[in-house]
Amino acid sequence: MSAGATGRAASDAVCDRIRPLEGTGMRTFTDPEPLVWARTEGTRIWDEDGREYLDLYAGFAVATVGYCHPRVTQAIVEQAQTMTHCPSAAPSRVRAELYERLVEIAPEGLERVLLAVTGSTANEMAVQLARAATGRQTVVTFSGTYVGRTVGSVRYAGKRAYREQLAVPGDAQFLPFPDPYRSPWAQGGDPGELALGLLEEMIDDPASGLERPACIVVEPIQGNGGVVVPPAGFLAGLRRLADKAGALLLFDEIQCGFGRSGRMWACEHEGVVPDLMTIGKGIGGGLALAAVLGRPDVMTTWKPDAITSTFLANALNAAAGVAAIDVLREERLVERSARLGARALARLQEGLADAPHIGHVRGRGLFIGLEVVKDREAHEPDPERTAAFVRTLRERGVIVGRGGRFGTVIKLSPALVIDEDDLDAGLNTILEVLT
Ligand SMILES: Cc1ncc(COP(=O)(O)O)c(C=O)c1O
Repeated sequence: MSAGATGRAASDAVCDRIRPLEGTGMRTFTDPEPLVWARTEGTRIWDEDGREYLDLYAGFAVATVGYCHPRVTQAIVEQAQTMTHCPSAAPSRVRAELYERLVEIAPEGLERVLLAVTGSTANEMAVQLARAATGRQTVVTFSGTYVGRTVGSVRYAGKRAYREQLAVPGDAQFLPFPDPYRSPWAQGGDPGELALGLLEEMIDDPASGLERPACIVVEPIQGNGGVVVPPAGFLAGLRRLADKAGALLLFDEIQCGFGRSGRMWACEHEGVVPDLMTIGKGIGGGLALAAVLGRPDVMTTWKPDAITSTFLANALNAAAGVAAIDVLREERLVERSARLGARALARLQEGLADAPHIGHVRGRGLFIGLEVVKDREAHEPDPERTAAFVRTLRERGVIVGRGGRFGTVIKLSPALVIDEDDLDAGLNTILEVLT
């Protein structure tokens, strides 16, 4: 993995150029010695000083088909030679191709598309569409939810810290997310059933304080929340309650979808279809693409010009998206995610069964979370140790993510094209470092 190079002279030189020019507020220098990205290919990153890393995080779960997949690169080059910009008000053949591909892979019944550039704007759009379609305002969502950081999406984030510096108020009825590992409020009961019971009571009780909801927003597997897979039956229960309340069910599959969980969409594990679904990250093959998919009746609510943005239907992004979808299907990467993911999860669960500081190992497909704790009885989160693990792994040439409500979940979401030997080598390093 890590190839030879020592020293940070070239990396530091890049940082020194950026530091005085960049406005504060980004995460660029939260690590005083950030990895300075110079080149990527497949599942590898090289830094500015020539060090090589195995990336088990895929750049925040974006490189689903791998970095610079040759077919995606070729599609980008060909499109760049033909047309890069096309106004979002003007139709184009590449947009038709993208819509057709998206609807082909969408859950049954989600037959229309609205494009976005980022996941956050896709979620803003989906919530506003639910409001327009129902004539209601209230959003129901859950602790730990992450639907983005724009002013219009951070309102539905579980973490209040994301709102504080922006001075944006929350705008949802939050309920506890049924985290099978970390739901002390459930007092040993089934957190899925209890969360559903609470929501049903709030819907039924005319004095609960809950307005009639426009939509229920949920990630079928929470990503930023720490790869949290809710108990079986939870999504189906939300489907039933949304119908009962006359609300729309909105699944955010931006991180857990597009093959990541070993199914095309994470909601398929539970056989539940939402009314609206947002997608992003991997679908652009590395370019900036996101979208809302939905039921035709809901998706035809708006009159022309309700929404627009200059780059919504950017031809380059669309061409990359078409190629990424083709690669995912033709290389059978969803099946690969299921197969390699099941093996990886079993290895980690077995190898970390006695690790004193790993409280929970969970996931679906190539989407895995490892919960770092001070001791396994108390489940007390250990952010310092998590940071140390992540740093040591990087020193050993392996990149992993970090998330969870306390920042104590090590997240794995490698490219689905990852070579099996590379995955095994990465897991060996993780097992060595974490035990
Ligand atoms: C589940 C989920 N929804 C929405 C977003 C926001 O997407 P973007 O950062 O592209 O705005 C993210 C980003 O991490 C995400 O993981």
